Amino acid sequence: MSKPRTIFICQSCGSASPKWMGRCPACQAWDSLVAESEPGRAAPATGVRVVPLAGAGAGRQARLATGIDELDRVLGGGLVESMVVLVGGEPGIGKSTLMLQTAGHLAAAGRSVLYVAAEESGRQVGLRAERLGLEGAEVMLLPETSLEAALAAMADGGYAVVVIDSIQAVRSADMPGPAGSLGQVRNAATHLAAEAKRLGCALVMVGHVTKEGSLAGPRALEHLVDTVLYFESEPGFRLRLIRAVKNRFGATDEVGVFEMTDAGLAPVANPSARLMAHRPQDAPGSAVMAALSGTRPLLVEVQALVSPSGLAQPRRQALGVDRGRLHMLCAVLTIHAGLDLSGADVFVNVAGGVKLSEPAADLAVAAAVASSLAQRPLPGDLVCFGEVGLAGELRAVGRSGARLAEAARQGFGRALTARLNRRPGEDIALLNAGRLDQALGLIL
Ligand code: TYD
Ligand code: MG
Repeated sequence: MSKPRTIFICQSCGSASPKWMGRCPACQAWDSLVAESEPGRAAPATGVRVVPLAGAGAGRQARLATGIDELDRVLGGGLVESMVVLVGGEPGIGKSTLMLQTAGHLAAAGRSVLYVAAEESGRQVGLRAERLGLEGAEVMLLPETSLEAALAAMADGGYAVVVIDSIQAVRSADMPGPAGSLGQVRNAATHLAAEAKRLGCALVMVGHVTKEGSLAGPRALEHLVDTVLYFESEPGFRLRLIRAVKNRFGATDEVGVFEMTDAGLAPVANPSARLMAHRPQDAPGSAVMAALSGTRPLLVEVQALVSPSGLAQPRRQALGVDRGRLHMLCAVLTIHAGLDLSGADVFVNVAGGVKLSEPAADLAVAAAVASSLAQRPLPGDLVCFGEVGLAGELRAVGRSGARLAEAARQGFGRALTARLNRRPGEDIALLNAGRLDQALGLIL
């Protein structure tokens, strides 16, 4: 076999160049090219075993619950044998904390767990374990950055679960490029995943994502793994949301909710109540929306502040909702509900760092803006949801039954929605409207 050629891979876009350049010719990123060896030509293997599709799925895959309910929920019921999971998130968000807690829980349930600490020393991990009350946990620790060491430990130990923290800190001696480079990360992940599949153990790889979401790492690994979980939060918030963005073993868009405490991440079993806890009473500009987070209904507070603007082009700022959508809603409020926002800055924020991507948030955003402009609070027992169209019409959205049930469970007495048929068993009064101006008339 010929010696593999060296090529240069852009760490930003992944394109290959035959020689080093200061700037990537494909994506124009500066200083992003790193030397890697080109993969050699694959030679056909011998002794390949092909199996019939019928029967290939025999043997039900048992779930291995982590014992942390909010995590099991996003995983689709727990880990599965041979499952490869990527846990991404910004540095400092709590990935290592949660993984160590998970390892501790699994070990307490009698599972053998290997924790490969590639970023921190054994002592650092030990201290964290103490802080988390896990000092007695029978987790095996490998403070190593070497891929070969991790693979050897995996093969030797007969582990049910292996955690790699983090994949960007693992490096193979057989490859050029520093730890964290695209080639190293991809190579390490490929080998570890293959070994996990061979051994039948579940593999959890931690990966850092920067604020911009770029980075050699998680994004490039998504196709290599079965399940991708992302940690989300807003700076300064203690709430952490874990979202499944890909899951071969369950639904995506499930969300687990945690809170960072002195004793690590604590599951928040009733996130609606938590998100509602700090809601200002009788404050103009605050609307409660019955949202859906995956399959789970979640009450969130949408806040708006409308203030006089000195700018020729007043500001429209949105945190947690799409800014383009806010622009649209301001226009609809102006044209179809007669609100004068032309000289006003409009700020919208979703409390708790929650991101609302469904159009069902429209009505709550519009109601919050109208409430702030009028300087009149919305009724304290009111939730809203519904899509607003460009003609000022209100449209019904999916799963209203689940939304209403959650609102009723949290003690809300009224729901403002598009016209929908009242379903039995909903312990909440419906304020129905066909148009946005009618809806606002009912509440302000
Ligand atoms: P960490 O899990 O190290 O984040 P990541 O692995 O994603 O980079 O933890 C991040 C932060 O959490 C850190 O700033 C300290 C804080 N923290 C707590 O507040 N309580 C705790 O019990 C622990 C272990 C960490
Ligand atoms: Mg960490």
